[in-house]
Amino acid sequence: MSVFITFEGGEGSGKSTQARVLYRRLLKSGIPALLTHEPGGTPLGTQLRRRLKGEGEIDPQTELLLFNASRAHLVSQVIRPALKEGTVVICDRFAASTTVYQGYGRGLDFDLIEAANNIATQGLRPDLTVLLDIPVEQGLARKSLRDRFEREEVAFHRRVRQGYLEMAKKDPERWLVLDASLPKKEVTRIIWERVEQILPNG
Ligand SMILES: Nc1ncnc2c1ncn2[C@@H]1O[C@H](COP(=O)(O)OP(=O)(O)O)[C@@H](O)[C@H]1O
Ligand SMILES: [Mg+2]
Repeated sequence: MSVFITFEGGEGSGKSTQARVLYRRLLKSGIPALLTHEPGGTPLGTQLRRRLKGEGEIDPQTELLLFNASRAHLVSQVIRPALKEGTVVICDRFAASTTVYQGYGRGLDFDLIEAANNIATQGLRPDLTVLLDIPVEQGLARKSLRDRFEREEVAFHRRVRQGYLEMAKKDPERWLVLDASLPKKEVTRIIWERVEQILPNG
């Protein structure tokens, strides 16, 4: 049985921190695991990431497709093959990020987003999505240098946060919503408790 876990949340919520800790813990427990992230995770994805996060305007439709181009490549080249081998795959951001940033954030049509996301994911859905929820200002304050998204206005980030909470509410079986303002170790403990339940032979 394959297990696919994704981390979602606003800027500075601790996604990369907790994804790394979970990855190390799995390896330490002797469980084959792979840690990757979006956008990026492949050489092509890294090029797309640089452009998406760097300087220069990108219209919302193009942005939607660039994120999904990176995702399509990552799913077909990295995530699917790893899951097929029985590796636990952890991804720092996935399709839900596009729904909230391009949908709730930018105001793109949700059907359009779903269609684009479905092409990229080939219908692959996470078994568990950890949502690290934190007040916008608190998360942003944890970041020093700001990229193109982190520099968006506070109202944008509030819509993103709201969007995540709505998504999680619609699918409570797959989403674990956590208070990301808790100490790192406490967040780690709660995540591990849930992950243990979905691991094979767990
Ligand atoms: N629970 C926490 N409490 C306080 N600081 C945290 C916590 N989790 C992460 N951080 C710090 O906040 C910053 C952003 O964390 P990061 O994992 O990069 O967030 P994200 O990937 O969600 O943007 C880092 O400096 C990290 O060490
Ligand atoms: Mg990060």
